[in-house]
Amino acid sequence: MSRVHVLDHPLIQHKLSLIRDKETGAKEFRELVAEISLLMAYEVTRDLPLKEVEIETPVAKATAKVISGKKLGIIPILRAGLGMVDGMLKLIPAAKVGHIGLYRDPETLEPVGYYCKLPSDVEERELIVIDPMLATGGSASAALRLIKEKGARSIKFVCLIAAPEGIERLQREHDDVDIYVAAIDKCLNEHGYIVPGLGDAGDRLFGTK
Ligand code: PRP
Ligand code: URA
Repeated sequence: MSRVHVLDHPLIQHKLSLIRDKETGAKEFRELVAEISLLMAYEVTRDLPLKEVEIETPVAKATAKVISGKKLGIIPILRAGLGMVDGMLKLIPAAKVGHIGLYRDPETLEPVGYYCKLPSDVEERELIVIDPMLATGGSASAALRLIKEKGARSIKFVCLIAAPEGIERLQREHDDVDIYVAAIDKCLNEHGYIVPGLGDAGDRLFGTK
């Protein structure tokens, strides 16, 4: 069974409350999503392996630790996942970035795929799939399926707000993928929106609608 990590750091929770507020405009919303993503990247990378190297400080020779192991890849689910890329890259600037284009059909709530471009060595990377919202879980599950079909083996999923339904679905369909979330909300409404959530993440990020 995959693990669910709720990142309840006070800074993350404070900024999350600000983006939930319907009065928060696109500019501030974008900035806050980037800041929350940076803070989440700090927690998501907590288990990266380290190795010892010999260095020389201005004072003495020393054994120091640097990150080792697989290289990283960040995969935003378009559109709204794009809002999380820059914050993550601030902490892990050498990561390659792939893109998966999916939108949720408003009637059926089923994901519709329209784009997929991943790093060519995706099977050798530790991948972090990002999308602010995990509602029914249809989009995230489809993205993870696609990435696995391309050979990926080591994947984490990071979102800002999840519904219990989405968490259950991801755990059922991708039990090898750990989930990192800033908040798990109450439920979905009849239109498949997370309650209380923050509304449509893509529209709020890009000022559409
Ligand atoms: C939103 C969100 C997720 C999806 C979540 O994207 O960014 O990708 O909905 O819903 P689900 O868990 O029920 O699949 P949307 O379909 O609105 O597309 P957009 O990012 O292009 O606006
Ligand atoms: N997609 C969003 O952007 N928001 C929701 O609440 C559900 C799906």
